Amino acid sequence: MVRDFAPRVLAWYDASARVLPWRIAPGSDAVPDPYRIWLAEVMLQQTTVAAVAGYFARFTECWPTVADLAAAEDADVMAAWAGLGYYARARNLLACARAVVAEHGGRFPESEAALRALPGIGDYTAASVAAIAFGRPAVVVDANIERVMARHRLIATPLPLAKREIRAALMPLVPQDRPGDFAQALMDLGATICTPRSPVCAICPLMADCRARGRPDIERLPVKPPK
Ligand code: ADE
Repeated sequence: MVRDFAPRVLAWYDASARVLPWRIAPGSDAVPDPYRIWLAEVMLQQTTVAAVAGYFARFTECWPTVADLAAAEDADVMAAWAGLGYYARARNLLACARAVVAEHGGRFPESEAALRALPGIGDYTAASVAAIAFGRPAVVVDANIERVMARHRLIATPLPLAKREIRAALMPLVPQDRPGDFAQALMDLGATICTPRSPVCAICPLMADCRARGRPDIERLPVKPPK
């Protein structure tokens, strides 16, 4: 039994959350804008926070709402995306914006299942938007969260098989309140403390019961797929 996992993670986030352009600071009573959260999560797939920031600012300035983006010229959006890579994401981005307008009256649907039915929205994006934008207790797993959980629970199964175990370990820990902050806290923890090399365990809120802490092979977790 893992005690107080979410409270420890959330308390750490309250004190240490990164300030990011698409993020609502913990404790703020601002209401998240699903469009901005979806846009950021799509941009952040396979791309670093540092690389995304400028693109996110430009997109939200040119197209402040999903209806604005849906009405954009394809060529303008592709040009604004240039440099971010993985151009299928940009085409799906436009298709998704247009589907949100055509099928949902310009409002993103709130459930994971309805989100996943939109173009370019897979398991990760559906879960992260449901949790961060709509407060749904979705199980969000990205590479940072995989690393935190594989280490905390000492899951030595190689990826991608480990994904099921990681998801199963995380599922009972997701809090009903603040599931979006919880997911983002684990992302930040993986990005800043539970790093691939030289994790800074001494300041980790999960060190008390982390099963990998102090092990010489901690950097090996999660175990890479066999070649
Ligand atoms: N990487 C992907 N989504 C993120 C988010 N919401 N916050 C921080 N890093 C992320």
